[in-house]
Order: sequence, then structure tokens, then C-alpha cells
Amino acid sequence: MPSPAIEMIGITKIFPGVVANDGVNLEVAEGEIHALLGENGAGKSTLMSILFGLYESDGGIIKIRGREVRIRGPNDATVLGIGMVHQHFKLVHNFTITENIILGLEPKNRLGNLDIKTAEEKVVRLSETYGLAVDPKAKIENITVGMQQRVEILKILYRSADILIFDEPTAVLTPQEVDELLAIFNRLKAEGKTIILITHKLREIKAAADRCTVLRRGKCAGTVMVKDTDERKLAEMMVGRAVNFRIEKKPPSPGEVILKIEDLTVIGSKGTPAVNGLSLEVRAGEIVGVAGVDGNGQSELVAAISGLLPVKSGRVLLKDRDISRESIRRRNEGGMGLVPEDRHKHGLILAFRLDENLVLKSYRKSPYSSRFGFLRFSRIADHAKTLIGEFDIRAGNGPATSAGGMSGGNQQKAVIAREIDLSPDLLIVSQPTRGLDVGAIEYIHRRIVEERDKGRAVLLVSFELDEIMALCDRIAAVSKGRVVGVVPAETADERQIGAMMAGVEA
Ligand SMILES: Nc1ncnc2c1ncn2[C@@H]1O[C@H](COP(=O)(O)OP(=O)(O)OP(=O)(O)O)[C@@H](O)[C@H]1O
Ligand SMILES: [Mg+2]
Repeated sequence: MPSPAIEMIGITKIFPGVVANDGVNLEVAEGEIHALLGENGAGKSTLMSILFGLYESDGGIIKIRGREVRIRGPNDATVLGIGMVHQHFKLVHNFTITENIILGLEPKNRLGNLDIKTAEEKVVRLSETYGLAVDPKAKIENITVGMQQRVEILKILYRSADILIFDEPTAVLTPQEVDELLAIFNRLKAEGKTIILITHKLREIKAAADRCTVLRRGKCAGTVMVKDTDERKLAEMMVGRAVNFRIEKKPPSPGEVILKIEDLTVIGSKGTPAVNGLSLEVRAGEIVGVAGVDGNGQSELVAAISGLLPVKSGRVLLKDRDISRESIRRRNEGGMGLVPEDRHKHGLILAFRLDENLVLKSYRKSPYSSRFGFLRFSRIADHAKTLIGEFDIRAGNGPATSAGGMSGGNQQKAVIAREIDLSPDLLIVSQPTRGLDVGAIEYIHRRIVEERDKGRAVLLVSFELDEIMALCDRIAAVSKGRVVGVVPAETADERQIGAMMAGVEA
């Protein structure tokens, strides 16, 4: 019996107010794909950050291939052949792919200058070996998220890692990209790499992993052979109760038109129309889903409605008022709520406290500001306590927790809580359940349906067709910046919507 690639024994990590890892054991065999599953805040990222040397544990030992090691930083981890692709990517956006991959390990020529040609050749060779096609000269800011992830993978392969840690690699990918990534995992495994995969998608665990270790509230809830279990059992092991995968909802009773988009054109980052003559209506009391393959104008559509991108032509009407040229603040005050696709860029201020983040859109009003314009901190903290309870936001230090120190899924819950709490006439939710565990998804879906039933108009943008089919009343399929067709969800079938997403009219 060869020794396992990794043994983490009795690992404990304490943050202020929370035991993130509480005597966790994890054993990963050489050459296996090992999934790590657990609720938002269960301690998965923390455990992997300890293995990668980003955090020092408060107790426990780590053995790599049978030998006890101390990992004091990412450099130690790299020397041991451990590489990590983080939950939130860490690339330099105005650097090229090659520059990002070689960062810190740049090949030099005889004069000691950077030898970019040799570097590019190495990148191409590496990408061919593992079937990770990239354009070495492209800048990060111009490539898709799926491509950025390939760069992250190449970056650790360039450092000769043979233990690869992936922290929620599929959360930001489209379904097609997910399939590609799972295929890449199998190739890496065939090359003898050991993989640890954190994911909330039980289907991916079934599809790719050999074994799965479940964490619950910082403790190990067990390790199972994936082929001997199913999605239901995994979900139950993880949240400690049965999870309802179906969304219960009554038929909608749509009212007046709340959002009206007329012949909208928006210029994207490439300088060409990303939204190209798009029209759509969302009524009070209905959920309209925008279904499409990533990059067909969905992000730009949401950005234009919410005021993050200018409208080139056409109009956006909110309750009959033309808001096309209004400031973001005016739009918010006029009754718009937004759960943005990128929680770090547009959802939260990571350096602020949780309670401050929860009043980002309402702090100037009563009861959070006094008549004289002073913030009323106790009211702000009380408000946070209410939302923390309601949305089960797990934050070690309660309202005072810094948003940056929260787990990814709990950051997401915070953004959703803030927006739903404002009870806007129009609620725009873009990839709302990205990074959420199955229990949290169940809750958030229920809350979105509740908002609909209260008479709110909901616009949902999601790359997950399953989510759109389950949650929406009407589905608008988009392709190349236009609506190809709108169908009632009740009678829609996946094949028909897939065809419309490919541009075929219904
Ligand atoms: N840098 C930090 N400072 C303070 N607390 C932290 C820090 N990092 C993590 N925590 C806390 O440790 C706990 C575990 O967080 P962790 O990020 O490991 O969860 P996770 O299982 O990865 O969750 P998710 O699925 O949401 O990503 C959480 O309660 C979190 O708030
Ligand atoms: Mg995490």
C-alpha cells in the first residue's frame, strides 16, 4: 500500500469568534480525485489554505507522502509540489497570459533580462501537454472566465505541482466549460496528478470524484466512496437534514409592467454592440429568466439596466419612467435592487464590516442616519443581526465581521439579503446562487419566489438552465445580444430553449 499523497491529521484553525477547522482529518490517496463538500462556512477553503500555507493551523499535523512537513507559506507548498486554484482568481488583469503564468519564475536571457519568447514557448508546450489551449499573448482582461481558469491551472502546472487544489472551480463556469474542466481533471489524473476538488455541485462530485470528504461546521462528517452514494445522501450528510431539490410555487398572477426594455443597444468591452436591439418586459408578480450561453450580452444587459454601462440607443423604463440616463443611486431609489454577477466587484466592500455592507444602499435614511446626518451604529448593527438570522449568514464576529473574512457563500448570502430586504419593485438577480451550498440555494430560491408573490418583478439571469427552468414563469432566450424568443416556463422544454440559445427562432 503506497502512502497517501496527503494526510491532514487533527487540523484546528481558530478565527476570532469561530473555530473554522475543529480537529479535521483528511486523507487523500496518490492519483485520486478527492472532493471536499460542506455548507457555506464549513471550513473547506480554510483547510485548503492551511495545506497551501496561506494560514498557519493552531493544531494538527500534515504529512505529504508519509513525511511530516511544516508549510509556512505558499513557497513551501510549491516546493512540496502543491498548487492551488483559488475560489476568487488571483490574476493580474493588464498582464498577458504568459506574464501571469511565469510571474515570479521568469526565464532570463544571458544579460539577465526577461526572455519572453522562451516563456511563451514553454507556455505553449505546457498547454499542449494537458490540452489547455490558450493564446499566450492575450491579456487577462480580454479573456473569458473559463479561459482565466485555464491560466490559473497552467500557472500551477508551470510550477510543477502534482497535488492540485481547486476551490470551487466550477462556480463561475458555464455548463459547457464545466464539462471541459471535468475532462481536464481526468487528463490530469491520467498524468498521475492528485486532485482535491471543492464544489457545491453534487452532480460534479458524482461525475468526477473517487472519494468525498464532508465537513460540517468545522468538523469532519465522514469520507465516502462516491460510487457507493448518491446526491441525496451527500446533501443530507452535508446539511444534516433532507434537502428539497424541487421548488414549490403557485402559478403567477402578473400585474402591471414594471421593467420595460425597448430596442436596447449597449456597447461591450470589445467596442461592438453586446446588447443589440433587445426588447423585454417584466411584470409585477412574475419571474422572467434570461437564458443564454455566457457572452451573449447578459452581463451588459444587466449593467445597462442598473447603470453600470451607458445605453447606446433604445430605452429602459422602470414603472413607466425612462431611467436610461439616470444615476445608479436614482435607479436604486426608484425601486431597483440588484444582486450582481460579481460579488467582489459590484456587491460588497470587502474592507467594510458586514453590518456596513448590509446598509450600503440605505445608510443615508432613517433609521440608520439621524436627522442631522450622523450614522446610528446600534441601529445598523441591529439590522445586521436580523438579516444574519433570517438568511443564516455565518459570520464569526456577527455584524462586526469584515466582509473580506467571510466565506464566499456567506458573502453571497449577504448581498442577496441586502437586496431582498430593500424589497425593490424590480429585483434583478444575476447568477444568484453562485457559490451557495444546496441548503442555501433551497432557501434563496424560496425567498425569490416569495418576492414574486408579494408582487415584485424579478429578472433572473443565470447560466444554469436548471435554475431558470425551475424558478421562472417566463423564459427569454438570448443570443448575440437579442431575445430570440420568450416562452412560458410551464410548457418550455430544455431542447427548445437550447435551440433558441443557439439562435434558432421558436
Ligand atoms: N481570514 C478570515 N478571518 C476571519 N474569519 C475567517 C477568515 N477566513 C475564514 N473565516 C471564517 O472561517 C469559517 C470557515 O470559512 P471558509 O471560508 O473556510 O468556509 P467554506 O467552507 O470555504 O465556505 P464557502 O462554501 O462559503 O466558500 C467561516 O465562518 C469564516 O467566516
Ligand atoms: Mg470557500
